[in-house]
Amino acid sequence: MKHLRAVYPGSFDPVTWGHVDLIHRGLTMVDELVVAVLANPGKQTLFSVAERVEMLEGCVGSLPGVRISQFDGLLVDFARKEKCKAILRGLRAVSDFEYEFQMALMNRRLDAEVDTLFLMPSEEHVFVSSRIARELAQFGGDLDSLVPELVKNRLQKRYPLQ
Ligand code: PNS
Repeated sequence: MKHLRAVYPGSFDPVTWGHVDLIHRGLTMVDELVVAVLANPGKQTLFSVAERVEMLEGCVGSLPGVRISQFDGLLVDFARKEKCKAILRGLRAVSDFEYEFQMALMNRRLDAEVDTLFLMPSEEHVFVSSRIARELAQFGGDLDSLVPELVKNRLQKRYPLQ
């Protein structure tokens, strides 16, 4: 039996139930999952890298086989450094497909040894995204079906309602 280590990269700004669902699904297929937060100073995010890592640690950090990390530069370089043979990504809808397809093929062109595994989240999380969670938080919407409690508290602190 092969020992498979995969990287699950993303912005995680912030981590949602969709991400958590995908991490659980990924763990049924791979032995080790490195959840890697993109630290790109050029990309505007609501939460700092440290905050995003901390939220992931709180939500999934104690799951056996999971390690939270961060990366900048090319994902394939990080994957190679961490000895990850696969990249895990979630596909929610057709709208995700084109970007994900392009990214998977580009990553394979950059490193032929790294393939991308796509998993679908459970149906209740198909419309969940970090962007929608941030937007709802801003206007006081109900966040329970989008993000774990710990993240909800962080979002509400970031967007206090008068
Ligand atoms: O959660 P996101 O924002 O959809 O994640 C996007 C991410 C981090 C996977 C992607 O932007 C990425 O891999 N960035 C690193 C730069 C890179 O390797 N680019 C080449 C792939 S086309």
